[in-house]
Amino acid sequence: MDGSMRLDHFAAEDGVNPKDVPYRTLYTGARMPAIGLGTFGSDHASAHEVAEAVRGAAEVGYRLFDCAAVYGNERLIGESLRAVMAAGIEREELWVTSKLWNDKHAEEDVIPACRQSLRDLQLDYLDLYLIHWPFPNHHAAGVDVHSRDAQAQPYIHANYMKTWRQLEKLVEMGLVRHIGTSNMTIPKLEMLLRDAAIAPAANEMELHPHFQQPELFEFVRSHNMVPIAYSPIGSPNRPVRDRTPEDTVDVADPVIVGIAQRLGIHPAAVCIKWAVQRGQVPIPMSTKRSHYLANLRAVVSDPLTEADMQAIAGIDKNCRLIKGQVFLWKEGQDWEDLWDVKGVITPP
Ligand SMILES: NC(=O)c1ccc[n+]([C@@H]2O[C@H](COP(=O)([O-])OP(=O)(O)OC[C@H]3O[C@@H](n4cnc5c(N)ncnc54)[C@H](OP(=O)(O)O)[C@@H]3O)[C@@H](O)[C@H]2O)c1
Repeated sequence: MDGSMRLDHFAAEDGVNPKDVPYRTLYTGARMPAIGLGTFGSDHASAHEVAEAVRGAAEVGYRLFDCAAVYGNERLIGESLRAVMAAGIEREELWVTSKLWNDKHAEEDVIPACRQSLRDLQLDYLDLYLIHWPFPNHHAAGVDVHSRDAQAQPYIHANYMKTWRQLEKLVEMGLVRHIGTSNMTIPKLEMLLRDAAIAPAANEMELHPHFQQPELFEFVRSHNMVPIAYSPIGSPNRPVRDRTPEDTVDVADPVIVGIAQRLGIHPAAVCIKWAVQRGQVPIPMSTKRSHYLANLRAVVSDPLTEADMQAIAGIDKNCRLIKGQVFLWKEGQDWEDLWDVKGVITPP
C-alpha cells in the first residue's frame, strides 16, 4: 500500500486534502503547513478533549500541531499522534512543535525537558522546539494576573544564550529539526540573531486583526523566520483573569463581521483567511470538529479580496490580549515592560 492510499483511508470525506493546504518554506528548505491546530486547553478544554481534537483534526487534514509541555496534555496528544500514524499518516507528513517551559531554562534542564516532551508525544524528533518565553519566570496553572514568581528575573541575554546553546545541541543530536522563539521583541531578537550559531527558524507571537504587530512581523519575516500566529481569532473564550476592560473583540469588529456575512462564514474564519494571506501561520484552537474544519477550509477556499485585506489592515488596534503580567520581575512595573515598547530591552 503506498502512502497516498493509506492517507485516503484515514481522511474524512468532508475533510481537506493536506496537499491542498498552502505551506511556508523555512530557511532549511523544510515546508511547514500554513495553518495548524493550537492545543492549549486553558480552563475550557480538558487534556482528553484536546487530544481527541488532535486526532479529529488530523482526520480532516491538519498536519501541524502546536504543543507545549506547560499545556499539560502532551502525553494524551502523544497517544493521538500514535493513532494517527498507525492509521497511515507518515511522521514526515506531520509538523509537531513543542516548547520549553520557563522553569526549564537552566542549562542542565533543557535536554531532559525536550526528551520528556518527545517521550510524551511518542516521537523521535520534533519539527520545531521553541523557548516559550524569554524569561525563566513561571507560575502555577490558573493563577490570576497579580500572581508573581518570587524568584522572577528580568531578561538576561547571557542566560538566554545559555538556554539557546542547549537548543542548538538538540539540533545537533537530531532530536529537533528547527529551533525558535516565542514572545520575543525586536531588540531581544537582534541580540539572539547576532549570537546564535543556529538561527531561529520561527517566532511564535500574538497576531490577530486587532493586534497586527506590523514592525515585529516585518522584522521576523525579513530575518528568515516564519511568524507563527497565536490567538489568531483573538482568543474569544479566554478566562476572565486574562481580560482587561480595554480589550477589544476581533470577531465582533464590523469589518470582520461584514466580510463574514458577505461570504457566509463565521468571523473566526475571516481572521484565519486574513492570517494566511498576510503570511503568518495561524494556530487556532478548537475542540469542536465543525470549528476546526471550518478554519482549515477557510485556507483552501477563495481568498479575500485586496479590498478586504486593506480593510482589515486598517482595523489594527494594537490590542495585546496575552499581556504576561505574571512574568513581571519587580514591584511597580507595567505589563508593557515585558514587551520593550520603547525599542530597547527594559532595564533590570
Ligand atoms: N506561544 C505562546 O505563548 C502562546 C500563547 C497563547 C496561545 N498559544 C497557542 O495558540 C493557540 C491558539 O490560541 P488561543 O486558543 O488563545 O486563541 P484562538 O485560537 O484565537 O481562539 C480560540 C477560541 O476560538 C474559538 N473558535 C475557534 N475556531 C472557531 C470557529 N471556526 N468558529 C467559532 N469559534 C471558533 C474556540 O472556541 P470553541 O472551542 O467554541 O470552538 C476557542 O475558544 C493555543 O491553543 C496555543 O497552541 C501560544
